[in-house]
Amino acid sequence: MESKAAELREKIEQFVGHAAGAAEKFRLQFISKKGEVAALFEELKKAPAEQKKQQGKILNELKQFAEARFAELLEKASTQEEEKTQLDLTLPTPQTLGNRHPVTLTRERITEVFARLGFNAEDGPEIDNDWNNFTALNFSENHPAREMQDTFFIEKNPDVLLRTHTSNVQIRLMNKQKPPIRSIMPGRVYRNETISARAHCFFHQTELLHIDKNVSFADLKQTIYHFAKEMFGAQTKIRLRPSYFPFTEPSAEIDVSCFICCSKGCHVCKHSGWVEIAGAGMVHPNVLRNCDIDPEQYTGFAGGMGIERIAMLRYGINDLRLFSENDVRFLKQFKEVI
Ligand code: PHE
Repeated sequence: MESKAAELREKIEQFVGHAAGAAEKFRLQFISKKGEVAALFEELKKAPAEQKKQQGKILNELKQFAEARFAELLEKASTQEEEKTQLDLTLPTPQTLGNRHPVTLTRERITEVFARLGFNAEDGPEIDNDWNNFTALNFSENHPAREMQDTFFIEKNPDVLLRTHTSNVQIRLMNKQKPPIRSIMPGRVYRNETISARAHCFFHQTELLHIDKNVSFADLKQTIYHFAKEMFGAQTKIRLRPSYFPFTEPSAEIDVSCFICCSKGCHVCKHSGWVEIAGAGMVHPNVLRNCDIDPEQYTGFAGGMGIERIAMLRYGINDLRLFSENDVRFLKQFKEVI
């Protein structure tokens, strides 16, 4: 019995196995119920009573030795498995950095151009009341102009709504800061429109507001002219057409010469040589009064433009829906254009 135990111990010591199934093979051969160690325990039953104690001790030691060896093999198998799935951190990273959205790029460019003219950027809430979005801006109750901008109402009486333009920030600003004011207000706006290539229920605008003593229409023209040249190129011209907004008087629609075809005529300018980019005008005295600013003392101009509209012109995009669909194939095409 002792020699058999010694023999088996040697066999166990010499068992080599690296392959995945080695531990299992070892278990079956040596320590399972039908394994070689169990077979020796079977023999022990037949041993003379006086030897049982001593032989039992030898077999127990052998069993422990075999189990320790088995544990070793298991450990080896699992580290091998781990090594296989380990990441190689020394590999170069995949070159798939994200980039900024075309609306963000355009907004930043607009902000930068106006910053150099001394305009700071103001922020305001997208959910606002009727006063800030309409009434303070000289939209009288039942004024047909309210219908120009189909509004999403959140609550009625008192009205809470999704702002239809960023002009609400003009009102908020004039209430908290007295002239001189020289600010732009970029942000998201909402209108209840059917979604198509040319219209969406939300989009982005930036407005501008300059209020001080002796601000004139000539200042408005010059500011817009400078902006257009910075944004679309030094040879860009601007054109003003009379228009109507309740909050400005006089009001104008601003066109820039088509920088895509150099005013020769293309599908973007619909062969007119001009593309519309903004609405603007001199701030209506009623708006100033509504914000406790004396229109006898101060005058100002305001303007507003759609950021998507400008991004479409800059990048030659023909469908407004692309901006909000988050298609990576579309988004990854945009790089900074200065
Ligand atoms: N708020 C106007 C609009 O959304 C744009 C505008 C702003 C026009 C300021 C004139 C002056 O259509």
